[in-house]
Amino acid sequence: MIEIHDYEIKNMIRMAEEARDRAYAPYSKFHVGACLKAKNGAYYLGCNIENAAYTPTNCAERTAIFKAVYEGEREFDALAIIWDGDDYAVPCGVCRQVLAEFCAPDMPVICSNKEGEYKIMELRALLPEAFTKRNLK
Ligand code: THU
Repeated sequence: MIEIHDYEIKNMIRMAEEARDRAYAPYSKFHVGACLKAKNGAYYLGCNIENAAYTPTNCAERTAIFKAVYEGEREFDALAIIWDGDDYAVPCGVCRQVLAEFCAPDMPVICSNKEGEYKIMELRALLPEAFTKRNLK
């Protein structure tokens, strides 16, 4: 796993928490925040953005990564996620697939619960045998 310092973990969880405050979640009332760190040191924050038609809802993780990719980032060091729940926050299946497009399999994903307690998982543990561009050869 890519090395990540304790202070950086706390810092990223704090930023993800700030992002969670921006969630637009009038339907589920479940607020999620994400903080994605690019290789160049920049942070990209995202929240979930829901929709009256439900399906178009965008998760916090995808908001963060789409913002980053739009800004020209293609390589990432770490992701932190925090939500309202008691369980550790984990990305949904769609977000795992989107993350696998740009993030290395050993990228740490910091999964935080609402108290800020966390566990760290490698992306490859969240999406083993990921389908990626390598499979298209
Ligand atoms: N959600 C996220 O933003 N990230 C996840 O990893 C799981 C789910 C959002 C989508 C929806 O707005 C709400 O949480 C309930 O599913």
